[in-house]
Amino acid sequence: MYSFKNDYSEGAHPNILQALLLHNSTQEEGYGLDRHSQNAIVLLQNLVDDQGADIHLLSGGTQTNLIAISAFLRPHEACITAKSGHIATHETGAIEATGHKLLAVDSSDGKLTPELIEPVLTEHHFEHMVKPRLVYISNPTELGTVYSKTELQALYDFCQEKDLLLYTDGARLGAALVSKDSGMTLKEMYALTDAFFVGGTKIGALLGEAVIIKNAQLQIDFRYLIKQRGGLLAKGRVLGIQFEELFTKNLYFDLARHANEKAQFMAAELAKAGCDFWIDSPTNQIFPVMDNRVIEELSGRFQFYVWAQKDENHSAIRLVTSWATSQEAVEQFIQAYKEVCKDVLIHT
Ligand SMILES: Cc1ncc(COP(=O)(O)O)c(C=O)c1O
Repeated sequence: MYSFKNDYSEGAHPNILQALLLHNSTQEEGYGLDRHSQNAIVLLQNLVDDQGADIHLLSGGTQTNLIAISAFLRPHEACITAKSGHIATHETGAIEATGHKLLAVDSSDGKLTPELIEPVLTEHHFEHMVKPRLVYISNPTELGTVYSKTELQALYDFCQEKDLLLYTDGARLGAALVSKDSGMTLKEMYALTDAFFVGGTKIGALLGEAVIIKNAQLQIDFRYLIKQRGGLLAKGRVLGIQFEELFTKNLYFDLARHANEKAQFMAAELAKAGCDFWIDSPTNQIFPVMDNRVIEELSGRFQFYVWAQKDENHSAIRLVTSWATSQEAVEQFIQAYKEVCKDVLIHT
């Protein structure tokens, strides 16, 4: 049964596996000091156009968020996030377990704005409460929505004015940057955050996330903190080779574009067939709303998550495409949707 559950159901893009095999027998330094990791770092520094960018390769998203956020905060400081933010919903309290409170705010589209953050600052105004210090966003958000350059600029300006750090979870950053709602480059992203990460796991790598720290204060001793939290891999080369491959010839962005195109094709065809959407998402995650009987029937043919209940009879499902999703798979889903709608809805 084909799965639209996520974008990490497949292994890695073949170029990455070939590169791993090609360099398999050479001896390298450990702990990220190998030539491949160093080269990958230079490639990313060139893309953000700053040789002073502090870049580290880590293994997974939760690990990156918890190492970065706990490194950036002092003991009494807290992190502001949307209620739907990944750190608030799907990371098992990893940030709280490092001693930092999450201040979660409602957001209808998963994004944060100065207007949503302001009340948190007003409320937390003295030393009997935690001090809001870092704003966590993800781009794209958990709802597949994307920050425009104007929105990110406004958020960053606000953070600067209020002495807040802006940190972006980029587990699917490629999908955001190549989407029609963004048009931003890595360099622009870098200019508008204190730190962010570029996710590889969900865009063609076997595993791996590259954290990029612009703010010089936040760069201090970061490798110590990675090591202390168990994130410094002896075989760091495995990450280095993959990021080298992803960023030598734009593979990262090509794969993100592929994933987005497949999801957007599905969204357009489902809309033509009369389907509504929970939210307008321009990336590789889409949220069609369907009759529960249609969902029930489709779930016998494809794997996907039922995301939210719209009303008694309708729910939103989440369909995620990946760098490896074929046109055939998306067409089969669309065809199945049309057939099922006819059967279920007309005969009842
Ligand atoms: C936005 C976002 N951040 C972080 C993560 C966590 O990544 P991992 O599962 O590699 O820990 C995910 C995983 O789905 C995610 O979607």
